[in-house]
Amino acid sequence: MLKWGDLVINKSFFISIEGIDGAGKSTLKEYLVDYLNSDKVICVREPGGTDISEKIRELLLDVKNEKILPKTEAMLYASARTQLVEEVIRPALQAGFIVIADRYIDSTIAYQGYARGLDIAYLHQLNALSSNGLKPNLTLLLDLDPNIGQERKILLKPDRLEKEGIIFQEKVREGYLELAHLEPERIKVLDASLPRDVVAANGVDLVRAFL
Ligand code: TYD
Repeated sequence: MLKWGDLVINKSFFISIEGIDGAGKSTLKEYLVDYLNSDKVICVREPGGTDISEKIRELLLDVKNEKILPKTEAMLYASARTQLVEEVIRPALQAGFIVIADRYIDSTIAYQGYARGLDIAYLHQLNALSSNGLKPNLTLLLDLDPNIGQERKILLKPDRLEKEGIIFQEKVREGYLELAHLEPERIKVLDASLPRDVVAANGVDLVRAFL
């Protein structure tokens, strides 16, 4: 079977993977990297991926930080993103890499908008500001019932967001689906309740169609 690594990948491409906690983003990412089989692939995660962004990540996910207000939270995610975009993602794309991001702008709309209840229009502006308008070419949305997500991801030490519970995750899911409805060209929905290798194969097919 021809692997993409056997093909000459010489164009930059930006893929983000989104979904509720426990939807299987990491598995899909690993599968994509394996299939692409190229040294011109870079993986990043949000929040994180630069020294500053990793420090912001610690702040955001620390269960002790109960006092973080939703607006503070949104701006911290945005700050972490700005550093990641300018230090890593944009230079990589300019150098012709394929960038795979585990979460990006849509997480802010789903989590801080639909689940936390912040104004969605403001958050779109914040996303535009934090990313300086850089959108993924393709977003793979792993859609999953949060009850299944919770069963799959048995958390010994849930982080601050993971502690929010099922109702929160349901709102996140609803937000994602709404976004996919609004931007069907970019955001492709994958049924994440299927076996993981089937989900991953479906994701690979979508990426191949785009490349
Ligand atoms: P992480 O441990 O990376 O979660 P996961 O493995 O599920 O991706 O933690 C990231 C958390 O941050 C996750 O619960 C989603 C949340 N998040 C937001 O609320 N807003 C955002 O803009 C981003 C990027 C993430």
